Amino acid sequence: MRYYYHLKTYIFLAFLIVCFSLSQSQNVLRKGSSLHVESSAKVLVSPDKSFTCGFHAAEGTNGYYFAIWFTISNPRTIVWMANRNRPVNGRGSMLSLGRNGVIVLTDVDGTTVWRSNTTFSTDATRIELLNTGNLVLLDLSDAIIWQSFDIPTDTLLPFQQLTKDKRLVSSRNGGHASGYYSLYYDSDNVLKMVFDGPDTSSLYWPSPDPTSNVFQYGRTNQNNSRIAGFDDYGSFASTDDLQFNASDFGLGVLRRLTIGYDGNLRLYSLNNATGLWSVSWEAIRKKCDVTGLCGRFAVCVYTPEPRCSCPPGYEMTDPSDWTAGCKPISNIICNTSHSEHVKFVELPQTDFYGYDLDVILTPTSLNACRELCLKSCNCLGFNYRLTGEGYCFTKRDLYNGVQIRTFPATSYVKVPVRLQIPDYPKLVFNTDFTCKSHEANVLLGTTSMYDTTEKKVKWAYLYSFAGAIGTIELLVFILCWWFLFRKQGLPDIVEDGYNLISSQFRAFTYKELKKATTNFKMELGRGGSGEVYSGVLADERAVAVKRLGGIFQGDEEFLAELSTIGRISHMNLVRMWGYCSEGKHRLLVYEYVSNLSLDSHLFTSNFIGWRERYKIALGTAKGLAYLHNECLEWVIHCDVKPENILLDSEFEPKIADFGLAKLSKRGAPDSEFSRIRGTKGYMAPEWALNLPITAKVDVYSYGVVILEMVKGIRLSNWVVDDDQVHEVELTKFVRIMKSKILDREESWLEDTVDKRLEGIFNRNQAAALIEIGLACVDGDRNRRPTMDSVVQTLIQSED
Ligand SMILES: *[C@@H]1O[C@H](CO)[C@@H](O)[C@H](O)[C@H]1NC(C)=O
Ligand SMILES: *[C@@H]1O[C@H](CO)[C@@H](O)[C@H](O)[C@H]1NC(C)=O
Ligand SMILES: *[C@@H]1O[C@H](CO)[C@@H](O)[C@H](O)[C@H]1NC(C)=O
Ligand SMILES: *[C@@H]1O[C@H](CO)[C@@H](O)[C@H](O)[C@H]1NC(C)=O
Ligand SMILES: *[C@@H]1O[C@H](CO)[C@@H](O)[C@H](O)[C@H]1NC(C)=O
Repeated sequence: MRYYYHLKTYIFLAFLIVCFSLSQSQNVLRKGSSLHVESSAKVLVSPDKSFTCGFHAAEGTNGYYFAIWFTISNPRTIVWMANRNRPVNGRGSMLSLGRNGVIVLTDVDGTTVWRSNTTFSTDATRIELLNTGNLVLLDLSDAIIWQSFDIPTDTLLPFQQLTKDKRLVSSRNGGHASGYYSLYYDSDNVLKMVFDGPDTSSLYWPSPDPTSNVFQYGRTNQNNSRIAGFDDYGSFASTDDLQFNASDFGLGVLRRLTIGYDGNLRLYSLNNATGLWSVSWEAIRKKCDVTGLCGRFAVCVYTPEPRCSCPPGYEMTDPSDWTAGCKPISNIICNTSHSEHVKFVELPQTDFYGYDLDVILTPTSLNACRELCLKSCNCLGFNYRLTGEGYCFTKRDLYNGVQIRTFPATSYVKVPVRLQIPDYPKLVFNTDFTCKSHEANVLLGTTSMYDTTEKKVKWAYLYSFAGAIGTIELLVFILCWWFLFRKQGLPDIVEDGYNLISSQFRAFTYKELKKATTNFKMELGRGGSGEVYSGVLADERAVAVKRLGGIFQGDEEFLAELSTIGRISHMNLVRMWGYCSEGKHRLLVYEYVSNLSLDSHLFTSNFIGWRERYKIALGTAKGLAYLHNECLEWVIHCDVKPENILLDSEFEPKIADFGLAKLSKRGAPDSEFSRIRGTKGYMAPEWALNLPITAKVDVYSYGVVILEMVKGIRLSNWVVDDDQVHEVELTKFVRIMKSKILDREESWLEDTVDKRLEGIFNRNQAAALIEIGLACVDGDRNRRPTMDSVVQTLIQSED
């Protein structure tokens, strides 16, 4: 009897196991069968269990989607949906593979909600979910008749290709329906992102700045094959030359490339243990640059994380949706012969990009600009630039509002005169432009800009809030961050509930670095900020370890700064792998660049040829342009000179020492000097004149460097002409060059270019370098070009 009882138990268990495995590990749906929404536990699972396919319940409703998701992601992350815009009923809906070889999703009433675009084919035998996450319809000979990879929603998986006529379309905030942002190949063969909203549409990536072209972003429009995708290492490539690697580059990680509801494109990596995602690449770091994020009239403000806000006199159109923007609290009655109806509210450091009515680039007074706007009912406000003499931009519409603390202009928005606008303190931004990289935390967008609880972020609130940013937010942020940092020893930063990782950037112990450098034996060099030693890490990576001298900021600030530098990644910038901060030790760990610095290949007998010089000039310009642009506001290098331009074995330049200005402590005993950073001879006149320091100081230094490359000698030295007259070699050179060019001397190029090259150089390139160099060292910083435009000009003469 007892045996009999046991047998029953065994049979029951075996039965359970069979059922379990039947329902769990099926990856095939045969012809004539279907998946029903009621038994939504019944799903297709890929053989390696990475992906699952079945019905997914829409939150809070009775709607269901037929979808594919990452099995272990938590919460569930959907990669594909058949019916994202038409959820089916929770009862009676099903997905079937008909006898005719068509996959059909039907709702409870029998209506077809979605179907595969296959033609009636009796060859089709089954649907399978592959390990790649691709749902395929196969025929008798196992050939693919239809695949979900051909019709992506908002996500691309490894080996899935984005091609001509395909689009990734973002979801709406908080749902699965198609949103306003998409990634696609435009007719000029370039991969772009566009915002296509209810009342406006515009391209926003790559940056639509009319003065720039695709080549500036390292793209090309020459290849019309239009194919993009990434592999299982996390290496993305597109035929328009867009290429990037996941920061955790390598096998064994599940990844996805998704265009988010916030319009940003990100590569994510899945943590097998937690089911959480980390961002391992991101297209846009200046999050307010995404068009439509905040809608009409609204202003995107970095507080420091981006937040939308309505100007005084305006309120949110739809309290649950910022993309709907703001609307006037009370309508403006426009009567041009009766302008007393209208007044303006002032929004400092704010721009509304585009939609200009008049653009007046001749010196204009604020009053004239104001009058111009009052005269037209079509004018909703204007932007007044204070740099130079005063430029005026009147606006027929107010979109793309963004407030950046370094923006040199004020926007004025029309409101009815009788509207009471609460007094608010003016924003007092930190105008102390010491050379620095801006706060790291500004880079971190969060979903909180859409928080329902904080919907009504009022302007006045923001003003007082902004005042407190510098202190409370930063402190809290730093403390939290520091906490994380201490706990894990890794600069993981929480973003969107994900961790932003840069796996290669980490904290090292002092012991590790001591060992790597064999007790700081091999000194590579010595600079203003400290000595540099060569070393080899335990994983055999060659590194350069910089020991920072002098007095340093506290741990928190030090680490906050480093997190900015640690993320900066560009082929023309020396990569920082990590740091060490223990007690009084402050060390930075850099990639090792093998071929010394530019000065040792220029001012010595071991000089380089013209090709290399041009390549270095272009690469350096690209690196600086990246620093100035790609980061949220910008990182100013402040010490561009040949010693800081390192060369690899191919003579590709890598700029060293960026972002260090802020690491040294301000207010130290020699604070007069610590404010000034740079090297005599390469320093722009602004430093001496105590003018605000902008990215144009780097442009100046770059100009000196390329003129030195052309001439092959130091121009930064002082020369003594008479006993009394001191002149920098550069000033003399510029004076002579200008007169030579004016006089149209025939042989001016031959006379100028490094004699040691014995005339072997490209005349066009030499002329371009000299012309750019002279423009860069202009005393008036407004007349110097930007690094972006330098790159553009140099690319035109590249061979
Ligand atoms: C179905 O759509 C895919 C992708 O759009 C396309 O490549 C394929 O040719 C279509 N098939 C049929 C039979 O129309
Ligand atoms: C376009 O890109 C593809 C893939 O990278 C490459 O095979 C092809 O040669 C390129 N075509 C042209 C015209 O450059
Ligand atoms: C990605 O990494 C691979 C291997 O390290 C390297 O060959 C490739 O150049 C990298 N690509 C980019 C765009 O950094
Ligand atoms: C994570 O899961 C994937 C797929 O299941 C597997 O290939 C990979 O080896 C796992 N990685 C780790 C680190 O366990
Ligand atoms: C505009 O104001 C003038 C002067 O007050 C008035 O005569 C005219 O009727 C107004 N026009 C409109 C369209 O309200």
